[in-house]
Amino acid sequence: MAELLRFERVVKTYRIGSVEVEALRGVDLSTDAGEFVAVMGPSGSGKSTLVNIVACLDTPTRGRYLLAGEDVTRLEDDRLAAIRNRRIGLVFQGFNLLSDATALQNVELPLIYAGRRRGRIDRAMDALRAVGVADRATHLPAELSGGQQQRVAIARALVNEPDILLADEPTGNLDSVSSGEVLRLLEGLHGAGKTIVLITHDPDVAGHASRIIRIRDGLVTQAGPSAPREAAGANRAASGAESGIR
Ligand SMILES: Nc1ncnc2c1ncn2[C@@H]1O[C@H](COP(=O)(O)OP(=O)(O)O)[C@@H](O)[C@H]1O
Ligand SMILES: [Mg+2]
Repeated sequence: MAELLRFERVVKTYRIGSVEVEALRGVDLSTDAGEFVAVMGPSGSGKSTLVNIVACLDTPTRGRYLLAGEDVTRLEDDRLAAIRNRRIGLVFQGFNLLSDATALQNVELPLIYAGRRRGRIDRAMDALRAVGVADRATHLPAELSGGQQQRVAIARALVNEPDILLADEPTGNLDSVSSGEVLRLLEGLHGAGKTIVLITHDPDVAGHASRIIRIRDGLVTQAGPSAPREAAGANRAASGAESGIR
């Protein structure tokens, strides 16, 4: 399979006044097209920092980030935005829908940003249908359940046909029934060939992915299904909060 994203020794340092926080301390990882990867780690481990870099919302302090073979480590903001719009579909914990726009209008937005006029409504409706909420097209977000809102957000993320669907704690605000629906939807999208990177602190959520990358204190501690059992056990013992992972 073709490699879609690659981190080489990625370091991200935040500076608050004279204090430096090393959120990522030299992360290596790579993901192939068509994979469903979960990035798992406790709160504060660097997951959102990693998401921001993968999504081209931020750049590494040191190291390299290659997206579809292109080195995007040091690009200017406008070039990064163009790559983000073309390659990345983002889904957040809080849905981030426009509250005064209908489900359909929310999904049309990325098409408007991309300058796509022709067939816009049809494409947006197709995306809503693909996530099972076409019958709610004219509803405002407040008229939808949390699970329906997140499905609309996934339709919005997918409508421009990005290379990667990147979801940061997408079930964090959902009850267990809605979480299950959203996770089954992601599994279905993966089955249809979509590359998915799912960020979570929840082992049950990560269990839906086909590969788990573990991050802890800004470092990847385990990056694949092929790690020896002993290493997996030691990793579990070191982090009680992550026990129970398959
Ligand atoms: N904008 C920021 N400025 C300063 N420190 C930050 C910023 N964003 C994150 N951090 C710090 O970086 C570390 C990793 O944070 P984050 O990537 O949000 O972790 P996670 O998403 O796993 O909870 C934490 O110590 C956090 O406090
Ligand atoms: Mg986070």
